[in-house]
Amino acid sequence: MTQPPRRVVVAVSGGSGLVYAVDLLQALGRVPHVERHLIVTAGAKQVLPTELDLGVHGLEALAEVVHKDADLGAPIASGSFRAHGMVVVPCSAGTLAKVAQGFTDNLVARAAHVCLKERRPLVLTVREAPYSRPMLANMLAVHDAGAVVMPAAPGFYHRPSTVGELVAGVTARTLDLLGLEHEHAPRWKDDD
Ligand SMILES: Cc1cc2nc3c(=O)[nH]c(=O)nc-3n(C[C@H](O)[C@H](O)[C@H](O)COP(=O)(O)O)c2cc1C
Repeated sequence: MTQPPRRVVVAVSGGSGLVYAVDLLQALGRVPHVERHLIVTAGAKQVLPTELDLGVHGLEALAEVVHKDADLGAPIASGSFRAHGMVVVPCSAGTLAKVAQGFTDNLVARAAHVCLKERRPLVLTVREAPYSRPMLANMLAVHDAGAVVMPAAPGFYHRPSTVGELVAGVTARTLDLLGLEHEHAPRWKDDD
């Protein structure tokens, strides 16, 4: 019997750091039996040309299935659709607030809410500096609701020498949090 795909939802919202989303989508593409479901918010589409040259179509080409953020009838809006988990990367302060409050007026917030209610992995790669008090409170709220707050803050202990290596460290931790096997970046003390 063939193995059903693990549907991983990747939501790209309008925070800085879209390179994290690209790296995660590419890494997920190398994990066997993963089907990538992508949502790109209007905010992300505004940020994209300031940071990367691939364009919206280039970003969407990194997923098997693309959903519109306004499409609240998409399969991933329902808990009965068997998704493996979801990452919001980068996660803007605005999207974080919606997830924290269960304010599900777009597909990103609805799909994240579904992950919380169905007890599925939900990783929010928050991006802002510095954090405001509302943002800190919202991070605690989503943590308490079952999500993982994963700051877009790379580690340096593997001595990264390129932006790609910095980003890969965050992607690798994100894949770990989704419970997916990978060899995306070296692990601490795991090379012998
Ligand atoms: C160039 C640019 C960079 C931005 N960077 C951030 C950021 O790092 N974090 C953040 O919370 N919002 C950032 N914003 C603002 C969000 O894009 C904006 O609040 C948007 O409405 C978020 O909506 P969304 O979460 O639906 O994408 C940025 C906006 C622009 C134009």
